[in-house]
Amino acid sequence: MSLLLSPAQVAGLSLKNRVVMPPMCMYAVEKEDGKVTPFHYAHYGARAIGQVGLIILEATAVEPDGRLTNNDLGIWSDDHIAGLKSLVDELHAFGAKVGIQLGHGGRKAANAIDRIAPSALAYNQDYGVPREMTVADIKRVQNSFAAAAKRAQEAGFDLIELHGAHGYLINQFLEPLTNHRKDSYGGSLENRYRFVQEMLPHIKANFNGSVWIRLSLTAYDDSGIQNTIEDWQNIGRWLERDGIDCIDVSTGGLLDSRPNIPVYGGYQAPYTSRMKEAVSIPATAVGLLNSPELDEYLLQTQQADLIEIGRGLIRNVNWLADAAAILHDHQFKVYNNSYERGQVK
Ligand SMILES: Cc1cc2nc3c(=O)[nH]c(=O)nc-3n(C[C@H](O)[C@H](O)[C@H](O)COP(=O)(O)O)c2cc1C
Repeated sequence: MSLLLSPAQVAGLSLKNRVVMPPMCMYAVEKEDGKVTPFHYAHYGARAIGQVGLIILEATAVEPDGRLTNNDLGIWSDDHIAGLKSLVDELHAFGAKVGIQLGHGGRKAANAIDRIAPSALAYNQDYGVPREMTVADIKRVQNSFAAAAKRAQEAGFDLIELHGAHGYLINQFLEPLTNHRKDSYGGSLENRYRFVQEMLPHIKANFNGSVWIRLSLTAYDDSGIQNTIEDWQNIGRWLERDGIDCIDVSTGGLLDSRPNIPVYGGYQAPYTSRMKEAVSIPATAVGLLNSPELDEYLLQTQQADLIEIGRGLIRNVNWLADAAAILHDHQFKVYNNSYERGQVK
């Protein structure tokens, strides 16, 4: 039996396997009201039937102006709870654990009326120059994250993940490239960490499941002023101290310049290993992990605790069944007998 497809206890969750569907924006909210649509039930439901152990819903906005686009899911109002709850109930009924990524786009909020960021630095010309957040803005957004955590609790999610990666608001605070503040939220690494640190106790008071964060461990900038791996390891240690249960390790997205880096199967996994050197909480790996043998190797050698399959699961809802065939994992069970009849023997 493979580690990839066998049950696991990770970050306080009982999972039926170690395959995670990472958050992926679907931009499917045509009414622009942030509410779950029939598409979401079908899209996520199909992956739950495909036996994904943990599904993390796409970046979901804690404020209307925090949406990456107006077609994003939202959790800024109590009106969002019922739709999210019925989606969670459906996915639970199919045996998946369910998370939600809580996000704010900051300077990368494409349709924001009042676009805010730690500093008045544009992502690019299309997005325009954001307004530098006042301390009152900071407190309001922190409260919005905490309120979103409470709604996620009411909707029955097993975990929440703070979107601290890919150049969105939390990432903008953490990186010196995008945070030029002169007050206690900018300058030193400790100060840049303060935005997320201050909200964690409130988030944890409002949500009693597993609390994760996604980080981009490099901005792929060679100017010498981005966080180093050692800085990210320190952030990881503080996050563990402050109650985070798992670090979802990604890279990039902070800057508009496309990094000229080699991209190959497992290219981001070394960043997960570096984070695991620093923390004792689990860490996930993501990024072209479509080879089940590579995934099994990363798990067996303890370079990652969970494996995230993004685009692979968009292409193939039966990714796990195919992985079981490749790994000769005869213990793996598809959803039911009818699905069993559909397997190529
Ligand atoms: C369509 C699409 C939407 C995405 N949306 C998000 C998102 O909402 N939040 C996030 O953290 N990452 C997002 N990502 C990044 C994925 O979670 C994942 O890290 C990335 O696709 C690399 O994994 P993969 O090679 O398995 O696809 C998105 C990726 C895709 C393809």
